[in-house]
Amino acid sequence: MKIQPVKGTRDFYPENMAVRNWLIDGWKRVSVRNGFEEYDGPIFEYLKMFQIKSGDEIVEQLFSFEDRGGRKLALRPEITPTLARMVNQKINSLSKPIKWFSVPRLFRAERPQKGRLREFFQWNIDIIGVDDVLADAEVIFCAIDYLREVGLTSDDIVVKISSRKMLAELLKSIGIKENQLDALYAALDKRNKLPDDAFEEMLEERVPDKDKRNKIIELMAVESIKLIRDCLKLSGPAEESVDELERLFDLLNIMGVSDYCTFDIGIVRGLAYYTGIVYEIYDKASELRAIGGGGRYDNLLKLFGGPDIPATGFGIGDCVLAILLEEKGLLQKQLPQRKLDYFVACTDDAYWEAAVKLTMKLRTAGWKTNFSYKAAKLTKQLKEASDQNARRCVIIGSEIESDQLIVKNMATGEQEVVKFGKFLQQCQIDLR
Ligand code: HAM
Repeated sequence: MKIQPVKGTRDFYPENMAVRNWLIDGWKRVSVRNGFEEYDGPIFEYLKMFQIKSGDEIVEQLFSFEDRGGRKLALRPEITPTLARMVNQKINSLSKPIKWFSVPRLFRAERPQKGRLREFFQWNIDIIGVDDVLADAEVIFCAIDYLREVGLTSDDIVVKISSRKMLAELLKSIGIKENQLDALYAALDKRNKLPDDAFEEMLEERVPDKDKRNKIIELMAVESIKLIRDCLKLSGPAEESVDELERLFDLLNIMGVSDYCTFDIGIVRGLAYYTGIVYEIYDKASELRAIGGGGRYDNLLKLFGGPDIPATGFGIGDCVLAILLEEKGLLQKQLPQRKLDYFVACTDDAYWEAAVKLTMKLRTAGWKTNFSYKAAKLTKQLKEASDQNARRCVIIGSEIESDQLIVKNMATGEQEVVKFGKFLQQCQIDLR
């Protein structure tokens, strides 16, 4: 019976693994240089944890199951609830602010499509304990720091930024009730992802009043923060949220990344826990789904039974990012090649044991070394050495004296005959 891979999963052959490792190594390096420490949690959690405040969409996409004790569990679709749980658990002993990153493997039962799978990796950066918008600017900087490093310019990508706090106030001024907001955010988040009629139907379900619906659509077309300030009479929390957005853009300018950032009132986010600044990162041509997204979630830790402590962060998945880098020609040229320091070739069975011994000594001394499993013709083994990107090929065989070997530079073709002992010394191998 031929067994197929499960829909929406990926097999990582060595060439795919090279891409995955390169992406993740970059995420980790950039996280550390931005002052973040790594954490991780379990791959499955209690189902109810993801039902508290992640929103209906993610709950519908859960891979859930019962363990033998009848406990309802789910594979993690995101790591933010785990982060909230973990921080709450040790809140008194953790020094603030908490700046943590993680690269979890996540699971969502989405309809597989370009850039969306059922199993993927996601880079998460979060700051807990800072209510200043400076923390939001810092995490946005961190995302751009990475994307810029891999060669994506402001012509390639854009960070679209808005504020849920501002949107909430503006919607309330139209007559939307506080308890209608979550359902409305979920609909507004779908605005550019659904055909117009499907979106309108969704909106009508949530806001039956036509006049209010028109006002919402008018509001969602506003193009600048200035227009919001000039056209709407702002006061109280609405004014505060607009001040906050303006300060965020000032900070992004100071940080030197404002060319990547733009205001977009259409950014609402699908997850239910966001409370303030929200943003999503897209390819400039808007051909792909979001590369990443995040925002402020000041109530989540409290909702999880912890203290009232602010938090902000983002997640960037590996799928859309890899597609975009590939399309821009940025992926292959940056991938590290498989490289060997030495390939040990043996042309004579009588020397095979010496070849195996030398290979293992080189490996123990830290040199990346491979060898031929059988004594064979030199041309065949040189091809093997070159296929494996060996810098040098060490040749052992009857052509030379028994205490000698040939070291061939694979790039220049130059070769020299060296005494065994001298070679071992050169390679800093213990001669005992
Ligand atoms: P999210 O918007 O659900 O946010 O996901 C963030 C990113 O993860 C997406 O933009 C996308 O790149 C990737 N992603 C999501 N679903 C899939 C999928 N099915 N296949 C491939 N990639 C996917 C969150 O998950 C938040 N927890 C992020 C966050 C961290 N907010 C604050 N801190």
